[in-house]
Amino acid sequence: MMTQTYQFKAPPVIVNGPGAAKEVGNFAKGLGKKALLVTDANLEKIGLPNEVKKSLEMAGVPFAIFSRVVIEPTQDNVEEGLKAYKEAGVDFLIAVGGGSSMDTAKAIGALAANTGKISDFMGANKIPKPAAPLIAIPTTAGTGSEVTPFTIITDTAKDVKMLIASPNILPRVALVDPLMTLTMPQDITAATGLDALTHAIEAYVSVKAQPVTDTLALRAIRLIAANLRQAWSNGDHLEARTNTLIGSLHAGLAFANSSVALVHGMARPIGAYFHVPHGISNASLLPTVIEFSILGNPKKYADIAEAMGEITEGLSVLDAAYLAADATRRLNDDLKVPTLSGLGVEEKKFNAVVKQMAADAIASGSPGNNPRKATQDEIVELYKKAY
Ligand SMILES: [Fe+2]
Repeated sequence: MMTQTYQFKAPPVIVNGPGAAKEVGNFAKGLGKKALLVTDANLEKIGLPNEVKKSLEMAGVPFAIFSRVVIEPTQDNVEEGLKAYKEAGVDFLIAVGGGSSMDTAKAIGALAANTGKISDFMGANKIPKPAAPLIAIPTTAGTGSEVTPFTIITDTAKDVKMLIASPNILPRVALVDPLMTLTMPQDITAATGLDALTHAIEAYVSVKAQPVTDTLALRAIRLIAANLRQAWSNGDHLEARTNTLIGSLHAGLAFANSSVALVHGMARPIGAYFHVPHGISNASLLPTVIEFSILGNPKKYADIAEAMGEITEGLSVLDAAYLAADATRRLNDDLKVPTLSGLGVEEKKFNAVVKQMAADAIASGSPGNNPRKATQDEIVELYKKAY
């Protein structure tokens, strides 16, 4: 029974399907006079933004290019992007890339329209004015950043991943095109696909879940669980790529509105201290954190097991729920996701910072959304178990 009201926010326009990226010119005409195309050097080298550029040229929209986005963007990269924005005299942004490109573009857009540094905006609802308009075109499946009001920027001085959340950085248009994901290498397919799965699972069990996000999250789990192995093992498989990307889109819409929980809260410090890719940090924690969290909402974890293709008929809710942990563990094995020790995270350094990592996780706020609350000591134990 619903006992309260819920709000759901999404970009005004989401175009999805093969060829969606080519529609950028039509949307760009309505958003501004000149665009800054934000991407990374590798994508620029393999020519992935070429169709986007062609579409802009055909629509008569001038643009400058900032291709110096880095993995796990920092405040310095954002400042560099802002400088490019100002020098090129542009008034809106187009991001072509993974979470890093889209997150960098959101941060540049926020600074272009507001005074201050990016660290001033850390936390929820700290950006006073709407950011410069952004068209987001993901090339991974994915972070879901194309439909979320979040950006994650690393504060290198403090080794903290700053989570910045504000409706003022929600993209105006998301162009979700599976053709843009076909060239994704295997390791990135695994990392970003498992990130999307974690978004869906955490959105579903979050204490902020609502009817609309439940529907989206369960659909996302089904699509990703049924297609990620094929997208990973056979990158040219357009149907598997499409379903994985649409799954990521559903997951993004879900967690944009119901938030993520303990896995993401714990994953960010791993990224900040050990520079492990975000999706891999999540995946390496996911089975252990599911096992811990089940008691907080067994029914929802049983639903997750069923959506992941486990046979739950005839089982008790609790037995079915534990299959969710098994299913994620098997997916990690199939996609060759290493444990933290296998990733070269040195044990001595890990033990030295694990308590601080647990404190950072709690400070991010995400663990507060978990169906079972964890103390700092419990989080330390979970880190050690996953290690
Ligand atoms: Fe994520």
